[in-house]
Amino acid sequence: MTNIQPHGGKLVQQFKPLKKVDPALYGIELDSVSLSDLELIAIGAYSPLVGFLCREDYDSVVTSMRLTNGLPWSIPITLPVNAEDSLNISLGDDIKLMKDGMVYGKMTVLDKYIPDKNLEAQLVYQTTDLNHPGVKRLFERPSIFLGGPITLVRRPKKDKFSEYYLDPSKTRERFQELGWKTIVGFQTRNPVHRAHEYIQKSALETVDGLFLNPLVGDTKSDDISSDVRMESYQVLLENYYPRNRVFLSVFPAAMRYAGPREAIFHALVRKNYGCTHFIVGRDHAGVGNYYGTYDAQTIFNHFTKEEIGIDTLFFEHSFYCEICENMASSKTCPHEKRHHIHLSGTKVRELLRNGERPPKEFSRKEVADILIKGMRDQLVKFGVDSYE
Ligand code: ADX
Repeated sequence: MTNIQPHGGKLVQQFKPLKKVDPALYGIELDSVSLSDLELIAIGAYSPLVGFLCREDYDSVVTSMRLTNGLPWSIPITLPVNAEDSLNISLGDDIKLMKDGMVYGKMTVLDKYIPDKNLEAQLVYQTTDLNHPGVKRLFERPSIFLGGPITLVRRPKKDKFSEYYLDPSKTRERFQELGWKTIVGFQTRNPVHRAHEYIQKSALETVDGLFLNPLVGDTKSDDISSDVRMESYQVLLENYYPRNRVFLSVFPAAMRYAGPREAIFHALVRKNYGCTHFIVGRDHAGVGNYYGTYDAQTIFNHFTKEEIGIDTLFFEHSFYCEICENMASSKTCPHEKRHHIHLSGTKVRELLRNGERPPKEFSRKEVADILIKGMRDQLVKFGVDSYE
């Protein structure tokens, strides 16, 4: 085990494989977000949570970014159910948690409540705008929440890249085997471009290992699919990273796009995976113009270092500068903006769709080629028009 303590001091372990669950129990159907949350709670990624939040913890997380026991926690992990399910469930019941008819978990229902979604949207996402993908999902999901401890009885199937799904207990073991004492975690929902590579390697100069931990749960439809991204990470690591300094494994959570609030959540989760450090760059977990460029860094000022328990490494907006002939940031480069290579996501997608590589100062050619192929496959799959 690495020395770093999980959040709350103990790695939660709530996976108890069961061949058969009492068929008489009432069952509810989970959506993909709840299924992923169920698994992440059970494997300890969300330690100290042992279940979906009850009302008091929910209110406390929404309004003060803390659980009722005082520990920092910034994203409500909730289980929404529809009115029919709610009517069929009483407090104290054990229920089955199912997806597509298969039982994945059990839960003891300790609470049933109607959340104030407007308040959650405003405080967690800083907006009630339904164009925000996290807010949209919040309002699209049912309006009654169940709270209570869970047990995972069956692991959701991983079709592809299964070797990259490691539980926090396993990543902790691996870090130990690798002899790493300091490990920096990197969250991403994108292919790793040169700016990401620059901040990762800058961080790696000062610690023993880099834990590249891409989020592969639900993302918005115009984010690049996790399969394509996984291929791009593999090719990047093969060609540009020292084998013995980087460890790639996935974070199978849904993206919330909650910017600052999600940065705290991402840091706490990486602490549970065994990281000692965590990178927060510009507009971490942001979307559109909902958050200030460095809000996801300043939000950490609400807590003491001890409370967060993982060292945050903050990076300025990074880019390639034509005059420096190097990757840099406003902290290290004196030249005017016009010398900095900047491409918008829209521009990059346009290039890739046309089969063109973005400039090498923006993306490694091997990565660009995987993305071009991925775009092509996606176009074939969905049809050119519907992709736009
Ligand atoms: S995120 O939603 O997972 O945060 P992304 O994959 O783009 O999105 O970012 C991963 C991490 O890299 C985040 O910490 C983000 O702040 C940081 N980052 C992304 N691009 C840059 C950049 N150009 N300069 C500095 N940091 C960046």
